[in-house]
Amino acid sequence: MEFLAPERGGFFVDATVGAGGHAEALLARGPKIRLLALDRDPDALALARRRLARFEGRVEFAGENFADLERVLDDSPAADGILADLGVSSMQLEQGPRGFSFRRDGPLDMRMSGAGRTAADIVAAASVEELTRILRDYGEERMAAKIARGIVQERDWRGPITGTRQLARIVARAKGTRERIDPATRVFQALRIEVNQELVALSRFLAAAVHRMRVRGRLVVVSYHSLEDRIVRAAEKVSETA
Ligand SMILES: C[S@@+](CC[C@H](N)C(=O)[O-])C[C@H]1O[C@@H](n2cnc3c(N)ncnc32)[C@H](O)[C@@H]1O
Repeated sequence: MEFLAPERGGFFVDATVGAGGHAEALLARGPKIRLLALDRDPDALALARRRLARFEGRVEFAGENFADLERVLDDSPAADGILADLGVSSMQLEQGPRGFSFRRDGPLDMRMSGAGRTAADIVAAASVEELTRILRDYGEERMAAKIARGIVQERDWRGPITGTRQLARIVARAKGTRERIDPATRVFQALRIEVNQELVALSRFLAAAVHRMRVRGRLVVVSYHSLEDRIVRAAEKVSETA
């Protein structure tokens, strides 16, 4: 809130409204604040609509991918502030059937929007080389090749890999290590990023956000891992020199 400085009012965008916590705090700062709230997850958007109902007239909702911000803001004024709180929400993580968590059994889905390829589709079809690239580039997983071989061996010998716990067990077996974090953490992160094309979306979002903001507008991005962080910092440098 301090960075967004909404007190004087204006037009703000919450690109990842989720359950609406940030949006609620923002709107509560003053009656002259208007907000456009986006989320690509229809369940999250429904939740946010309920939570923010008391701000009716000052808030609009759109079930959009923030990658498309340029188009979404086509008819909007330049923004005073834009917020993105990246990644998945705890709500998405805690719902087994969404398939985001290796701690809960569920189908290997991981799609935020419910459209496109699932994690199971990728695990079923990708070659060892493709899987290695995904796990290395999006999970920064040191044992990417070993895990990729383990996955392909398992699906060739025993059939499709369709469950979160099933994949977590295959990863643990392939790694055979005792790590501080769960051995499947990086693999799940990598597949989630690939399924939702998160880094591509982030790059497109940042370019559009800088472009659609008014002079002295504020862009706040909350990032959770080094891959996101690198992209955000690179965009920060470009916008400083522009
Ligand atoms: C960490 S949560 C946000 C929580 C929110 N700030 C709150 O206060 O409840 C991230 C949200 O961003 C959404 N999201 C992730 N990538 C997105 C994208 N490319 N476009 C739109 N929404 C996205 C997810 O569906 C999720 O609901």
